[in-house]
Amino acid sequence: MTTRTAVALAAAALIMIGIGSTFEKPLTSTVQWGYRGTGMVHVVKETARQKMALANAVPAPQDKADKTGKKASEVYQNVQVLKDLDEGEFNRLMAAITEWVAPDQGCGYCHGESGNFAEDKLYTKVVARRMLQMTQFVNANYTQHVQATGVTCYTCHRGNNVPQNIWYRDPGPDNSPLSRATGRDKPAASVGYASLPYDPFTPYLEQANPIRVLATQALPSADANNASIQRTEWTYGLMMHMSTSLGVNCTYCHNTRAFSNWEQSSPQRVSAWHGIRMVQQLNEKYLVPLQSVYPPNRLGIAGDAPKLNCATCHQGAFKPLYGVSMVKDYPELAVSAEQVAPR
Ligand code: HEC
Ligand code: HEC
Ligand code: HEC
Ligand code: HEC
Repeated sequence: MTTRTAVALAAAALIMIGIGSTFEKPLTSTVQWGYRGTGMVHVVKETARQKMALANAVPAPQDKADKTGKKASEVYQNVQVLKDLDEGEFNRLMAAITEWVAPDQGCGYCHGESGNFAEDKLYTKVVARRMLQMTQFVNANYTQHVQATGVTCYTCHRGNNVPQNIWYRDPGPDNSPLSRATGRDKPAASVGYASLPYDPFTPYLEQANPIRVLATQALPSADANNASIQRTEWTYGLMMHMSTSLGVNCTYCHNTRAFSNWEQSSPQRVSAWHGIRMVQQLNEKYLVPLQSVYPPNRLGIAGDAPKLNCATCHQGAFKPLYGVSMVKDYPELAVSAEQVAPR
């Protein structure tokens, strides 16, 4: 063998090793989910599972508060939501929400640096007060979806001022009238990069259009056309969003030979049904009305307020934080004084 051949062989071997190292070990497991023969199976990738376990580690609760026996509303001047909470527990909760929402900025993120905790000068405090009410509403009234597990600020915020998954109305790139008809030819993360409308959220998670692919009337009629094309694409777009948000595939909820049939669906589809109504209601009652409170840099290109979807809480897990309840350590976040009925 000449030196040249040896060098060439060594280089080829190195390249092969290089390419080989990009392959992933096929460490997967499968879970049968539905009746045998229905193909309702989950494939779990070990590397993804480990990454998700790390991302969903839950912070330790704050130490128990020393109760002072006085209500926060007696001690402080401008407490509108947490009125009946003991002063000690009120301060413990302030420390917790700081850790969950503004760990880098501290109390000043909502209270400023003036030392006056009663004033409502910053928009962040006004938003946070509404968030307290929203969190209480979900925990107290939406147990059909969140069960006893419930949510805290951490479920959505995870130490960030702005949750990692929010959405705005997307009027789309203003180019061809053809692609604007359904808005589907632009691969978007919102629908798992499928060729589906990139904004299934406005029709389904802000407005409450029917999530259906089957027309109720024979062609030709305006409604039947809408149901068969645009609504179908929106529906599939939303389904892609729901699947990616939960880290599952369609068979987690459906027997795919009959998507619309509830009898062949899993109980999780019922949770999801309540989840859709919950998200619509949270957007309508809590997030959309905050539009006038936010500074312009927090609004979308259409001038609308930031809104939430399934990914805001779930973040790729079938249950947020894999079902660990943080609210049990903060029971004050599960009592609601607001009279809002769930849908
Ligand atoms: C994410 C926003 C946020 C952060 C961070 C925050 N607070 Fe608050 N704070 C609020 C809201 C909202 C209220 C009003 C609660 C209500 O109306 O029930 C409040 C009220 C208060 C009050 C009552 C003031 C009065 O006289 O009415 C005190 C005291 C207080 N916070 C202390 C703190 C301290 C100390 C920290 C830091 C450890 C802190 N807060 C961090 C949002 C925040
Ligand atoms: C169901 C999800 C969810 C929960 C639970 C939640 N938030 Fe939020 N929060 C949001 C969304 C969505 C926004 C809008 C994002 C933005 O401001 O751009 C937001 C915005 C905020 C902002 C404004 C941040 C900024 O800089 O614009 C504050 C402050 C805040 N939340 C505090 C809280 C507090 C305190 C709690 C717990 C009592 C809480 N949030 C619970 C979803 C949530
Ligand atoms: C987390 C549960 C869940 C997952 C995952 C899910 N779906 Fe759905 N799907 C639902 C629910 C709930 C409805 C009914 C919504 C309603 O009526 O408001 C629905 C409705 C549908 C419909 C409309 C049926 C009709 O009556 O016209 C189709 C089609 C559909 N899903 C397809 C899919 C596809 C394809 C996937 C995978 C990409 C998927 N779904 C993933 C829960 C789920
Ligand atoms: C406010 C936070 C929040 C939002 C937003 C949210 N979920 Fe959930 N979801 C939860 C919590 C908490 C649980 C865990 C309940 C439990 O412990 O059984 C859950 C559970 C579920 C389950 C049951 C999982 C199982 O294996 O039992 C499904 C399915 C589900 N969510 C679907 C959805 C869909 C679809 C959306 C969007 C339309 C959505 N969720 C939006 C908080 C949320």
